[in-house]
Amino acid sequence: MCGIVGYAGPQAASPQAPSSRPLDVVLQGLARLEYRGYDSAGIAVVDEQVRVTKRSGKLKNLREALEATDTDARQTADARQTADAGQTTGAEQVADTGAGMAADTRARQAAGAGQVADAATKQALGTTHGGVAIGHTRWATHGAPTDTNAHPHRGGRDGELAVVHNGIIENFAQLRADLAADGFVFVSETDSEVAAHLLAREVEQTGDLTEAMRATTARLEGAFTLLAVHRDQPGTVVAARRNSPLVVGLGEGENFLGSDVAAFVDSTKEALEIDQDQIVTVTADSVRVIETDGTEVPDPKRFRIEWDVAAAQKGGYPSFMAKEIHEQAGALADTLLGRLVDGTLQLDERDIDESVLRSIDKIVVIACGTAANAGAVVKYAIEHWCRIPVEVELAHEFRYRDPVVTEKTLVVAISQSGETMDTLMAVRHAREQGAKVIAICNTRGSTIPREADAALYLYVGPEIAVASTKAYLGQIAACYLLGLYLAQVRGNLFPEEIAEIMEDLQSIPEKIQRVLDDSAQVEQLAQSMQDATSVLFLGRHVGYPTAMEGALKLKEIAYIHAEGFAAGELKHGPIALIEEGQPVFVIVPSPRGRDVLHSKLISNIQEIRARGARTLVIAEEGDEDVLPYADEVIRVPATRTLFAALLTVIPLQIFACELATAKGLDVDQPRNLAKSVTVE
Ligand code: AGP
Repeated sequence: MCGIVGYAGPQAASPQAPSSRPLDVVLQGLARLEYRGYDSAGIAVVDEQVRVTKRSGKLKNLREALEATDTDARQTADARQTADAGQTTGAEQVADTGAGMAADTRARQAAGAGQVADAATKQALGTTHGGVAIGHTRWATHGAPTDTNAHPHRGGRDGELAVVHNGIIENFAQLRADLAADGFVFVSETDSEVAAHLLAREVEQTGDLTEAMRATTARLEGAFTLLAVHRDQPGTVVAARRNSPLVVGLGEGENFLGSDVAAFVDSTKEALEIDQDQIVTVTADSVRVIETDGTEVPDPKRFRIEWDVAAAQKGGYPSFMAKEIHEQAGALADTLLGRLVDGTLQLDERDIDESVLRSIDKIVVIACGTAANAGAVVKYAIEHWCRIPVEVELAHEFRYRDPVVTEKTLVVAISQSGETMDTLMAVRHAREQGAKVIAICNTRGSTIPREADAALYLYVGPEIAVASTKAYLGQIAACYLLGLYLAQVRGNLFPEEIAEIMEDLQSIPEKIQRVLDDSAQVEQLAQSMQDATSVLFLGRHVGYPTAMEGALKLKEIAYIHAEGFAAGELKHGPIALIEEGQPVFVIVPSPRGRDVLHSKLISNIQEIRARGARTLVIAEEGDEDVLPYADEVIRVPATRTLFAALLTVIPLQIFACELATAKGLDVDQPRNLAKSVTVE
């Protein structure tokens, strides 16, 4: 989930003044979008040449690179003025020639080793008559977060075009092979560079960037928002989107593009929604929208932005946590995107040899907090599909209890941040004992996947709120993919069985959206329970770790004592806690699945209701058996037992978030907590 900004408008300042409206607008927009991803940033402008400056790391690194070229550019401009006074030849254009990246030596020295900085980028910005710029902050998917993998990416045999991209191009491998055979030179590991060269080749054939974008998007599969500028069409930005966001901002004599309105809300409140598979051509004084078949869109959806910057960054939600809860349908779709290719599941970096996977005799999941609850959910699935024992261990316990680990143990380390020290130390210990380690992680380039033997990334985008929500669902889904991959490699499931399960899994995002769209009931319940001092959560099978996760959410952001139990454990002690009015969430499995589970939960609800509990039941649509014993019934769509955990947790996330918000607490930064616990 990257941040994208585009601008077309008047040039500001004079050639001598280093600042430039296109540059300033795009840098400010990127700063507003940095929460969307921050492992590299870059900008491209057009001035006879396409000029690109990009740096790994945070946005400040890009600013430093531009300042370095700025200083150099001013010196160059001064030198030119002196030279001009001496009637020498005109300013040498330090052309940034694409893949060759020829750049002024001094600028490269000024820019420092490892930077990809165009020598006269800043100076050119003062004179570019095009008045366009595109920029990007990256949340790495394909390709590690390096300068070369940073966006913008150049396209064309002469670097005549630049592209920024948000999304995942599923068929990039075959397109890359075709383009390479056609003489295009690739310098990065990214799928985005493929789009850049494909677009450039289409411009060679059509002579027009908009027409070329049409032809290009017809060849791409997957999700993308693309912004492109071309040397031969200064003053024009062309963009396209599919399954990834794009909005256009309408200014006076200038126009803007962005991943969301936060990119340009400082400059204009008037915006256009760009629909699926539409292409937009933007100049300083025109915005033209067409469908992929070329037909004009006469009246694109116009809207007025009612948010300020802070609200825009949260998508209009009161907190990043609320925003991230409501992003979960799309986030999960991104986790699953492109994973099953020709019936074979694809993992990410540095796969472990299949022969090793066939030899393992035990899986140990290590994690902390919410990640550990995700691990506890997937235990049921992996044991069911692969018939391998799965132990779920809290990393800080595993590390110091002298666990039994051999070279036949597969360790699955789950960590959103990839930096949790407890989990990292457990990974190191497991590897010292000879185990193979697969990291399930959301943060590319972080320590745990770097020290693992293989990695599977979540692709849910950066999770800003301390309380983990979309990453939790992503962790479960990624571990399901791993379980199916193991079943495929070890022959436990036939390809058609895997395909059927994957089809079910790919139907989950739509079901998540239905739960999110139907959240009013649980929001009202939360608002009515602001004075609660204790809430219990019960579940069986995958409902048990779901109960644990619901309790954790309430504890960590609403500061209310909460406890999750295995429902079968009630009569072994916890039922003593039940008194008149005690609120208890009960997660009820599908009546169509393991019906013994369902009937047991009904009995548990009766037991606590008889003792005065207030029963808050989460049950499948159409399950009438719960009605006589439930004070509230919160419905989720029907799905297979193993996948119910991806749905039943959502009302519990919303409940905790809404209750903490109603109490006026800092939902995103709860007291005593950090997003990544990098100490043991
Ligand atoms: C969950 O809401 C918490 N933020 C916390 O339990 C978190 O899941 C745990 O610290 C593990 O973090 P990680 O996934 O980054 O390793």
